[in-house]
Amino acid sequence: MANYDVIIIGAGPGGYVSAIRCAQLGLKTAVVEGRDTLGGTCLNVGCIPSKALLHATHLLHEAEHNFAGMGLKGKSPSVDWKQMLTYKDEVIGQNTGGIEFLFKKNKIDWIKGWASIPAAGKVQVGDDTHEAKNIVIASGSVPASIPGVEIDEKLVVSSTGALELPKIPKKMVVIGAGVIGLELGSVYARLGAEVTVVEYMDAVCPGMDKDVQRSFKRILEKQGLSFIMGAAVQGVETSKTKAKVTYQPKAGGEAETLDADVVLVATGRKPYAEGLGLDALGVKMTERGQIGTDAHWATSVKGIYAIGDVIEGPMLAHKAEDEGMAVAEVIAGKHGHVNYGVIPGVVYTTPEVATVGQTEDALKAEGRKVKTGKFMFMGNARAKAVGQAEGGFVKIIADAETDRILGAAIIGPSAGDMIHELCVAMEFGASAEDVALTCHAHPTYSEAVREAALACGDGPIHS
Ligand code: NAI
Repeated sequence: MANYDVIIIGAGPGGYVSAIRCAQLGLKTAVVEGRDTLGGTCLNVGCIPSKALLHATHLLHEAEHNFAGMGLKGKSPSVDWKQMLTYKDEVIGQNTGGIEFLFKKNKIDWIKGWASIPAAGKVQVGDDTHEAKNIVIASGSVPASIPGVEIDEKLVVSSTGALELPKIPKKMVVIGAGVIGLELGSVYARLGAEVTVVEYMDAVCPGMDKDVQRSFKRILEKQGLSFIMGAAVQGVETSKTKAKVTYQPKAGGEAETLDADVVLVATGRKPYAEGLGLDALGVKMTERGQIGTDAHWATSVKGIYAIGDVIEGPMLAHKAEDEGMAVAEVIAGKHGHVNYGVIPGVVYTTPEVATVGQTEDALKAEGRKVKTGKFMFMGNARAKAVGQAEGGFVKIIADAETDRILGAAIIGPSAGDMIHELCVAMEFGASAEDVALTCHAHPTYSEAVREAALACGDGPIHS
């Protein structure tokens, strides 16, 4: 068998990006992937297919609700669900095929199958044992259910099943008001399903600032999603074609039930390292079942590294990608680095919600003196022109004394793209005034970012 400088286990965003960077740095590289296509959860059953469905259903929503007001009259499009799923699959195919092309271009070997690590320096795939000076585990994560709820991917589905339902349900119950629940809940609400989200906490998207959570929930409610907050789902019973969800209000009282055609379980994901043989190797794990790593992504066993969802930190494709590039540089003897303080998070609903850095609530709880600048999209001409001004805003959180930007949140059109202006600002240690003094083209959504920066100082112009 060939000898490699690096074998990477898993071809998701962490693994494939790491492989490309390893190859670019002159390392002989192979990737082991057991799926039929490259790209991992993100490209096959996660970020990319959900964005295809979010895009198609957004256009449907626009046609049904906003076209007439813009003078676009006539029949709204009807939904050909089979074709929409085909469109989604084509988008997946273009992306996974793209990674295959990049592997060939960079002379990366794809070892097809599921890997285990019999010893440091060895990777077993089927009957073959491959040798590698370095092994990078990028095996990702899988949906985590809750006690009493068994995912069958038919009536009770994870995000994977929700991306290929045979038909659009009339009633859908979503367990968990996190990113997956709200993105996929939006898709089915736009397709006409009656969507009820049951959430244990008192707010959507735990971890965001309260004002962001409140506005986001209000916007989603206007779009037709219903919420039952502060309620713990205790179980789901299924018959042949229906499901019954039982939940217990945290405030007390009787347990209640909801009927559904489909239940989406969106209660988080858990690291996936099964079958790798890490126990026998003595790789140290964290209490939460993640692979333990040091500041250079090295595990407790020499020559074995781990990155992405299988280690600690937010389970985000771009966090895994950054770690993938950085660990490649470490292995090549360079200085890989990830700034964990500036990793954006985006919810791809309409409007999008994007955050970066620290929240006002968390900073205040720590006793930090901060100031915030907030600007509503109602004051942004471009957002008004496209009918997306209502309810959204840009919020910048800065140090009260130094004016340095510590965090930001945006609810609004293209928030997921706009947040990067603030990411770059934070990378450069910018103050809110630096952003405020930067000329922004008119009319753009980004002007709202500048106005929020102005709001940290002498005040915005358009509010
Ligand atoms: P999540 O952790 O974002 O949200 C799970 C929610 O379920 C929480 O609000 C939690 O309080 C609630 N919950 C847990 N048990 C419950 C119970 N018994 N009853 C009611 N509610 C309950 O998890 P999610 O949405 O499943 O996403 C998993 C991971 O995938 C996250 O780390 C997320 O960041 C990532 N992801 C990111 C995306 C993006 O960046 N756009 C898209 C999809 C997933």
